[in-house]
Amino acid sequence: MALETVARLDEVPIGSRKLVKIGNTKILLFHLETGFYATQAYCPHLLAPLKSGKLLEGHILQCPFHRAQFDITTGEVLRWANFPPGIQALNLLRSEKCLTTYPVIIDGDAIRVDIR
Ligand code: FES
Repeated sequence: MALETVARLDEVPIGSRKLVKIGNTKILLFHLETGFYATQAYCPHLLAPLKSGKLLEGHILQCPFHRAQFDITTGEVLRWANFPPGIQALNLLRSEKCLTTYPVIIDGDAIRVDIR
């Protein structure tokens, strides 16, 4: 386990997200109604920055480039790249790939992420 402190609790209010860096790895930290979650910061399709992705239904992150949708809590792909029309041809080379997620631990007022 490689726990790293990435923020204080008051820096990430409920409904917000924060881009953090651990070594050379950028991670997105989310504070959802159900708790804190951490994911990779770039889309596994074509590396769009997910910080500006739209949050749907409280836990689904939609990529700003080609609208792939991921469950933030598990990393599961709910919908792969589907916009604009024709992107499916590219998907033959860029097949579905889950979002990497990282365990988050609250330690006092510190938010810690296990990057392993
Ligand atoms: S870069 Fe995210 S869906 Fe294409």
